Amino acid sequence: MITHKWNVDNVDNLAGNQAIQEAAMWIREGEVIAFPTETVYGLGADACSNDAIEKIFSAKGRPSDNPLIVHISRLEQLKQAASTWERTAESLMNAFWPGPLTIVLPKSDAIAERTTARLATVGVRMPDHPIALALIDAAGFPLAAPSANRSGKPSPTRGEHVYRDLNGRIKGIIDGGKTGVGLESTVVEVIGETVTILRPGGITKAQLENVVDHVEWDRALLEEKQVPKSPGMKYTHYAPDAPLYLVDGERDFFQGVINQHQSEGKKVGILVSDELADQLTADEVRRVGSNQRIDWIAQQIYHQLRSFDDTTTEVILAEIYPDEGIGEALMNRLLKAAGNKVLTQE
Ligand code: TXA
Ligand code: MG
Repeated sequence: MITHKWNVDNVDNLAGNQAIQEAAMWIREGEVIAFPTETVYGLGADACSNDAIEKIFSAKGRPSDNPLIVHISRLEQLKQAASTWERTAESLMNAFWPGPLTIVLPKSDAIAERTTARLATVGVRMPDHPIALALIDAAGFPLAAPSANRSGKPSPTRGEHVYRDLNGRIKGIIDGGKTGVGLESTVVEVIGETVTILRPGGITKAQLENVVDHVEWDRALLEEKQVPKSPGMKYTHYAPDAPLYLVDGERDFFQGVINQHQSEGKKVGILVSDELADQLTADEVRRVGSNQRIDWIAQQIYHQLRSFDDTTTEVILAEIYPDEGIGEALMNRLLKAAGNKVLTQE
């Protein structure tokens, strides 16, 4: 399959944009198109068509029991995706949509069974990105869209990441440049007045607490033995080709770990803040920005993780960050990418 590539500037007023019209036409014909959102690139198709959704799963190589997020462009579209929603969910929508918050709601009959992996619920969000919104508008129906990476790889934050993973496997890519947040949306479930975070992401726990009284972590995020309520959380994810270890310790400990691997003849890559990069030597150094700006680190982390795949790096060592604010999501993704392997200073 030839993959079409359209470059579209990330600007408002895209209603008549020809590339978007063309991409929407393919989607209406049941094809799969990658597009930028404010979090990461999504792989979009008609959320109401089992056949179209099947193409997403096969392009990604995604396990079929992992449900997709449904994207809407305006509130009136919500009833096409969900059958009911309560006041607490509505407050979240008012506060955070458009934006990086996915709310799990009872599914409407219109949404295809494959989209939700036969669950009775559907995750819905309204992305805060002019291209995503214009594409959904032009298609005229909600778009199911997982992140546009091959299953297991870091999510794409640039058009070229999508191209590398999916060229020849999908109909087209709308390249709108770098995404903003750099990590995926926060996924929440709402039961009565309690909001449970199933996946940390672009909206932090503290931000949710500004709007609702009861916010909890899904127990699976706190205790490894629990089965997660968000099916996608149980798979290895976001991983570069070389094995990744997180290093929890001071500069000298970190350098010692690098030296140890080098003495075994391995090429060592490090993924570190500017502050730490200045104090370490390794074969490949990737700087993710100042450790004073975790939000900027979040924007870059997937790109930098992917960049090791173009090198001969045999082991990657990454710094850890405070587990607060956007650091909640950043550390969640780094731990997953590392398969929970953390080297801790005694
Ligand atoms: O920022 C994002 O959320 C991006 C952009 C493209 O919107 N999308 C994304 O989709 O990250 P994906 O498929 O990579 O991750 C969706 C997550 C998975 O962990 C999945 O299990 C969970 O959302 N999810 C989807 N529907 C669910 C449901 N009904 N109940 C529980 N979890 C659900
Ligand atoms: Mg994903």
